[in-house]
Amino acid sequence: MRSTVVVAQITTEKRGLLARKPLQAILSESEREDEHSLKRALGPVNLVALGIGAIIGAGIFVLTGTAAAQYAGPAIMLSFILAGGGCLFAGLCYAEFASLIPICGSAYTYGYATLGEIFAWIIGWDLILEYAFGAATVASGWSANVILLAQHLGITIPPELTATPGSLLVQYNGIWVPAASVPEGLVASLPHVTASFNLIAFLAICMVTTILVIGIKESANLNTAIVFVKVGTVLVFIGIAAVYVLQHPALAASHWHPFVPPNIGEFGRYGWSGVGRGAAVIFFAYIGFDAVSTAAQEAKNPQRDMPVGILGSLIICTILYIVTSGLLTGVVSYKQLNVAAPVAFGMEAIGLRWGQYLVLIGTIMGLSTVMLVMLLGQSRVFFSMSKDGLLPQWAGAVHPRFRTPWISSILVGAFVAVFAATIPIGILGELVSIGTLLAFVIVCAGVWVLRVRRPELPRPFQTPLVPLVPILGIFISLLLMASLPLDTWLRLLIWLVVGLVIYFTYGRKHSRAQN
Ligand code: ALA
Repeated sequence: MRSTVVVAQITTEKRGLLARKPLQAILSESEREDEHSLKRALGPVNLVALGIGAIIGAGIFVLTGTAAAQYAGPAIMLSFILAGGGCLFAGLCYAEFASLIPICGSAYTYGYATLGEIFAWIIGWDLILEYAFGAATVASGWSANVILLAQHLGITIPPELTATPGSLLVQYNGIWVPAASVPEGLVASLPHVTASFNLIAFLAICMVTTILVIGIKESANLNTAIVFVKVGTVLVFIGIAAVYVLQHPALAASHWHPFVPPNIGEFGRYGWSGVGRGAAVIFFAYIGFDAVSTAAQEAKNPQRDMPVGILGSLIICTILYIVTSGLLTGVVSYKQLNVAAPVAFGMEAIGLRWGQYLVLIGTIMGLSTVMLVMLLGQSRVFFSMSKDGLLPQWAGAVHPRFRTPWISSILVGAFVAVFAATIPIGILGELVSIGTLLAFVIVCAGVWVLRVRRPELPRPFQTPLVPLVPILGIFISLLLMASLPLDTWLRLLIWLVVGLVIYFTYGRKHSRAQN
């Protein structure tokens, strides 16, 4: 009965590519509670933890080193401030939408309510880049850390099954590593194999998918527990590094000088352009706070707690990132930071072997929650798209006992596991960044549009200084997108064209708003 009312309301807005889904219909959907709806089990602590679970991961534990060594030097701290600022503007816009339209489609549904169906589809399709490809990227990073730890512990995993097909691995100092990380002249003389499948990344995604199918409360509780371990790891590093810097002030000062190393004649290699390039690279470290909004239909009090989850997690991580990167470049010269595990390397430089292992274990645990929240977000977006008829009905099926969108979770998990096992991490990572930034641009624009179109709506959380904040969010996101390579733009374009073909052959014909 209720769904009939919803359908009737949906059809009241204009049809065509710009058909919008009426807010009233969206709100009725979000209020529905029965065995076919998602379970409202999450409070503010769970939501902040979900955000931190998705945010802290490969960005800080892996990318910081390369970004400091190659682009920004000690000014990597400024890159973190710049990227964090851009995310804060977008985060404020997400917070307004998530409290006003607390539905698990996130940016996809915000687009449906404000800009029209075609934009909603584009965002929904684009979010696959952020969530599904994001989880695959992190699974690759996770497998690299697990393999490293296993090798340190003397556990042998057949090297052919530890990297994407075609990757060349060499045995260096008794450990299998990518050939690219070994001095070029040595490669030919070392034992080597060509990998065929990254089984470890594949299994990681299967494991996380199983937890997600079992239940939202189980998933969220596991996430919260692991978040304590990973934030603890970062805090231990901060504490130890701060003491070290205080004990060796002259050494730290020499590492921090010059704070912005002079540009070496190439755009993005140090100097202020390097700070910008560094920000584009470490932007990846902030991705994930928006995933909190996909849990809106599983939050007990979304109007109040969505902004807390989104902004709380973003602010906590921004502070941790700025302090960690600042101390890391004080402990070690940025010139030495071009390594795969820079924070663990910082511990080694201080002389703490146990600290190195602690960071490695913290990284492995930390990356597992990033995969968890990203996959959670992806299945919830598909759930919403299916409810609107843009994807088949089975994608929105809720398991009667677990109350999770089990079919879409399993399907997403299967695809992501194969991506993670077969697509190189570099290609995945840049697609994730460009896809996320595009979603930010559309969400910021959407907040502004809705303020103009429906100023009277009761907004439990209001983005301050509209339109300035959305404009700054759009501007910084576009700036970061512009610094990504042309190849990535082309892949984004191809991805969107494929999406539009699916929309015109399936989505448009089955859309509930159109029919
Ligand atoms: N922000 C997440 C990470 O750094 C995606 O791994």
